[in-house]
Order: sequence, then C-alpha cells, then structure tokens
Amino acid sequence: MPAPRLPDAAPPHELQEALAFLEAYHAETGAPGLAQRRQEVLRGGHLTLSSAELTHGARMAWRHSTRCVGRLPWASLQVRDLRQVTAAPEVFAHLCDHLRAALNGGRILPILSVFGPGVRLHNDQLIRYAGYRQPDGTVRGDPQNVALTGHLQRLGWAGGPGTPFDVLPLAIETQGQVTLFELPADAVYEVPITHPDCPGLGALGLRWHALPVISNMTLEVAGQAFACAPFNGWYLQTEIAARNLADEGRYNLLPAVAQALGLDTSRRRSLWLDRALVELNVAVLHSFDAAGVRIADHHSVTRQFQHFVELEAQAGRTATGRWSWLIPPLSPATTPVWHEQYDDTELKPNFVVQRPAWREQRSACPFLGK
Ligand code: ARG
Repeated sequence: MPAPRLPDAAPPHELQEALAFLEAYHAETGAPGLAQRRQEVLRGGHLTLSSAELTHGARMAWRHSTRCVGRLPWASLQVRDLRQVTAAPEVFAHLCDHLRAALNGGRILPILSVFGPGVRLHNDQLIRYAGYRQPDGTVRGDPQNVALTGHLQRLGWAGGPGTPFDVLPLAIETQGQVTLFELPADAVYEVPITHPDCPGLGALGLRWHALPVISNMTLEVAGQAFACAPFNGWYLQTEIAARNLADEGRYNLLPAVAQALGLDTSRRRSLWLDRALVELNVAVLHSFDAAGVRIADHHSVTRQFQHFVELEAQAGRTATGRWSWLIPPLSPATTPVWHEQYDDTELKPNFVVQRPAWREQRSACPFLGK
C-alpha cells in the first residue's frame, strides 16, 4: 500500500535538501534545536526558512561559488530578508537602498537582498552600461550589453543620452508583468579613470561604476529557489581593467591607451598591448584609491584566497574552485593560485545563472505591462 501523501508536501528531494541544509546550518553555527526543526519539517512536509537560516544559507552559497576568488569574507555577507516584498515599486526602492548601503561611502559592504516569489530582474547586474549597435555595425557603449539594451528598448525604454557609459534602466518582473525603472543618480556611484603620471589616459574620459551587483543568479538554499536575490562584493581591478575596458569584444581600449602612453604600436613584438594593459590596471587601482572606493588587486586577493582555503581546511571542509576563473587575466603565474589545483564540485547552497529573459519562449503577448 503506498504511503499516504500529505496534501501540500514538498517533493521528497526538496525535503531531503531541506533536512541536509538544517544539519549543516546547526553544525556550522552551533544553533540549538536541530531535532525539533527536523520534526517540524517532517511533520509539515515543508521548511519555512527563518531569517537566520536564510542568511547563513546565502553565506554558504557565496562560500561555494567556485568562480569567485574573493570569498575570504563570506561570513560577513549581510542579508536583507525582503521575502515579503513582491510589488515592483517596492522592489525598486529596496534595490536603490541596497546600492546606497553597499557603497557605504566607498567602504563597500557585501550585501544580498532576497525578494519574494514571482519577482525577477531582467538585468544581469543592477548597474550596466548600454551598448547601442550603430548603422555601421560598431557598438557605442558596452558591446556585452547590446542584447540587454535592445530588450529594454523593446520594453519601452527610449534610450539614454548616447554616451559610451549610459546607465541602463532596471526591468523588474513581478508575477509576469515587467516594469522599467531609471536608477537615480545618487544610487549609481562611478569612478573617473585617471593615471598617476599619464594625463593622456585620463583625457580618454573613461569611467566605471563602483559596485558589481549580480542580479541574474538564483539563490538556491535548502531546496528552495530565490530568483531575485541580487548580491554584491567589491571589484577586483582586473575585472574592469583587464576585461571590461580591454577585451576586443568589450570596450577594446588598449589601442587608445597605448596611444595615450606614446607606445610603438607598429609591431606586436614591442609588447605594446601588454604594456598598455598594465598601465590601464595601474590607472584603475589609482582612480578607485583616489576616489576612496574599495577595490581589490590580483596579488592581494589571491593571497587572501589561499587563506580562505586554509581556513576551510581547518573547519574540516574542502574549498572548491574553478581554476580557470580563479586565476587573474593579468600576470596569472605571479599569483599563488596559478600553482594550485582545485576541486570544482558544485556544492549547495549555491547560485545558479538564469537564462536571459529575452531568450525565453513567451506566448502571444510577450511584454505585458511594459
Ligand atoms: N566581472 C563582473 C564585472 O566586471 C563582476 C562579477 C562580480 N565581481 C565581484 N568582484 N564581485 O562587472
């Protein structure tokens, strides 16, 4: 005879994940009451996470992020439990608060905000620069964001002023309805890029935003999925200077930087690309430091990562990692991670990348409510 099923019982694998999470939560935090909590879950067929559990779950998700080299401060992540928030204007107000609280006058704090069911963001980060495809096929702005920019325009965005650094509006989806919101200037802090001894580099008019806030990853804790759980740390200068501003498929600025530096660009063997790359990295670190905005460098962050690995071992855990993501794109072999190997197992809780909203199959009326 099959066992009777409770009317609103969660599927068994979710229950198992819920129980496994509770075990880990109580073991790691030393919180009392595991047996009672287990009973509640088994009896009710469902786990309602407390704020404390959700907070620790989000911290574990960061600790388990195999692509992140900046995990040493995982336990300091502040979690804003906004699971009761499901209306777009309120979501937007909380996102603006998140941006201001995380910037914290430049002493950036890692924060994650968790919203309620039916909420998701179409932007992959809260702050992104538009990429406008020009008639001649080139892109003004960030080529990585051409698809997002087009999507937002189809949703009704009129477009920005047309600079290479136009901040995109947020597309907040709640219960299938999408609404656009322009971020207020006081929520988007940007750093102008200058070089300590090459004024020509400063004259290029480059800038980057202070906060990377990832908003396209689902937080999975205890068998539950939180689709809107944007989180931030602080930048590592290579992300901006060795990729965003440098990649040929991004802002592709190394030729302009080399020219500002007066390098001989006629032969690749002059290593002008490499020299321009180093000076652009110097410039980004110098500029963030001058603006009083926290930023990591690849030499210190990789040493901190080694420390994280040691602390995890002391706690009886294996720090997981994906080597190809952990090594920096500048001078990787000068950092300790180059010489190590890592176990790339994906543990839970964790963050899972979402499919972009514009790639989803949608029926008849795709953009209800704009
Ligand atoms: N690489 C991404 C960017 O350049 C940010 C990823 C998260 N980085 C971080 N330091 N938390 O925007």
